Order: sequence, then structure tokens, then C-alpha cells
Amino acid sequence: MLTTDTDNKDKSMTTEGKQTKASAKSADKESEMKSSPLHKFFRDALKDIYYAENAIVDALEKMQKAATTEELREAFEDHQLQTKKHISRLEKVFKLIDEEPEKKECKAIVGIIKEGEEIIKSTKEGSMTRDAALIIAAQKVEHYEIATYGGLAQLAITMGHNKAADLLEKTLEEEEDTDYHLTDIAESYINLDAEQED
Ligand SMILES: [Fe+2]
Ligand SMILES: [Fe+2]
Repeated sequence: MLTTDTDNKDKSMTTEGKQTKASAKSADKESEMKSSPLHKFFRDALKDIYYAENAIVDALEKMQKAATTEELREAFEDHQLQTKKHISRLEKVFKLIDEEPEKKECKAIVGIIKEGEEIIKSTKEGSMTRDAALIIAAQKVEHYEIATYGGLAQLAITMGHNKAADLLEKTLEEEEDTDYHLTDIAESYINLDAEQED
């Protein structure tokens, strides 16, 4: 059957109309998603860990300088580089969920870092006791991060943010590896040497 120009015009208008409707629907869905309590919690938790990671970069600098052994100093240096990557991964996660990267003070990490600073003050420079104590302080940081990234990666999966979940899981693996590595250093000789100190 022959169709006239007007028919074609009408058809294309209908398709266009459908497309506009569809994109309006997806925009509605998006704004609905962004106003959901879980999305708000997820975004705020990202702001919290974004603040924490930035604070950890500075803390690791101080811990590197305070460490007695070359091995621990190197471990802190390596993890400081990784932490900078964690920050840029978080920036990607913010982008993926259509939010701006922002920091929100994380009281927990402020406290854990303060505890690390007190350890530096209360242990002797050049001692193995200082390294044994610094490892525990660093592991407290890692465990906070592991709890955060583990939970956020699971939430990201639930909310259908699969790419964000992959990034959060990658960081989670690096925090876990750091934790194991610190245990290895402590158990290989640092704790034993510290035990011999007067
Ligand atoms: Fe991290
Ligand atoms: Fe870490």
C-alpha cells in the first residue's frame, strides 16, 4: 500500500513522541532513584570514605617517617600510592551514580588516625615496639576500610550499579591484601624483636 508524506510524517512524530515519553520516563526513574533513602545513604557513605581516604594519605606519610624498619616504611609507602588510586576510583564511582565527589568528615577515621599519632608519641624512636604498635594502628585503618568497601560493594550490586561495584571490590581486595601483608611483617620478626626490648 502506498503511503503519503503526511502518513510518514505522522508515523515519525509518533515514534518521536514515544522516544520523548521514554526518556522522560527514564529521567523520572532516575530522579526517583536519586531521592530514595538508600541512594542518599550510599552517596553519604561514599563521601565519608572519600574523606577517610584523603586523611589516610596524610597519615601514611607520618607513619612512614616514624617507622623503624625499612620493610614497614616500604609497606606504608606502597599503600600510600594505592590509597591515591582508591581516591580516584571513588571519584569514578561518584560519576557513575551521577553525584559530585565531596568529602564528609568521617569521625571514625579521625579517631583511628589520632590513636596512631599517640602511638608515635608514646613509643621510642628507632624501636621495634614502635613498629609492632604502628602495624596494629595501620590494621585498624584497613579494617575500617574493609568493612566500608565490603558493605558498599554489596549495596552497589543490590542497586544495580555494577560498574561501581567492580571498582569498590577492586579497592576492597587491595585493603585485604595490605592487611595480610602487615600481619606477615609483624609475625616474621617485628613482634619477636619488640618482645626482646627493655
Ligand atoms: Fe583505601
Ligand atoms: Fe587502606
